[in-house]
Amino acid sequence: MTDPYAATAGAYDLLNAPWRAAQTEALEHLAPRLRPDAGPILDVGAGSGLNTAWVLEESAAARVLALEPSPAMRAVLLSRIAARPDWTARVTVRPEDFFSATLPHRIGGAILLGVLGHFDPGERAAVLAELGDRLPHDGAALIDLQPPERPEAVAATTFARTRVGDLEYRVIGEATPDGGERLRWRMTYLSLDGERVLTEEVAEHVYHHPSPETLLAEAASVWLHAERLGDSSYWLLRRA
Ligand SMILES: C[S@@+](CC[C@H](N)C(=O)[O-])C[C@H]1O[C@@H](n2cnc3c(N)ncnc32)[C@H](O)[C@@H]1O
Repeated sequence: MTDPYAATAGAYDLLNAPWRAAQTEALEHLAPRLRPDAGPILDVGAGSGLNTAWVLEESAAARVLALEPSPAMRAVLLSRIAARPDWTARVTVRPEDFFSATLPHRIGGAILLGVLGHFDPGERAAVLAELGDRLPHDGAALIDLQPPERPEAVAATTFARTRVGDLEYRVIGEATPDGGERLRWRMTYLSLDGERVLTEEVAEHVYHHPSPETLLAEAASVWLHAERLGDSSYWLLRRA
């Protein structure tokens, strides 16, 4: 089995750092709408567990159901949990993807950050419907629509670079249109000693970039109200 996130996982938190403040700000909009009494908080594509950890820290009453199909990302997530034995009774990490996992009847909220684009339009409609069915009436889900807002070519760009000791970690991304709302992304992950490349790993994936209008219409069709958080790429989905 090939793991599409194998190249990403190692330095994920380091290279995600430039976006973490905005993610946390968006999570703070979700916080008052979490309903841990209604069911676990679902973290779809939990990755390295940054958002799972945020929920466990934020709400002592919350349980988290984290879905993470990538073995490499799941290893980072489980290491994060291993460092906090006090969390283990409140978090379950399932290795299935969204459609393979058995979801609880009711959830107390949901987080889908960096993951919605992995679903094609039919799958996205099904994901939204499943969320709508399971959220309590006053519950909410936090999602993001990853830039660019329209599926246009992205020239090779250094998205993040950071140093750990003597070495630099760098991620370079580029994308080409792949028809409709699809972009084909090529991400290159480097570790460097000065200008000498020590490791270079490439991940390619197709990502869907639905427009805000598309999202609004798709959410409304399953009785979810989609509200953009300012002019950010983050949205709250609430039961209408
Ligand atoms: C860009 S990462 C985002 C990780 C995390 N949510 C965050 O915000 O830091 C996307 C994650 O979604 C996961 N993923 C991809 N397809 C998925 C699916 N069908 N169901 C659940 N997770 C999926 C990947 O394995 C990956 O870890």
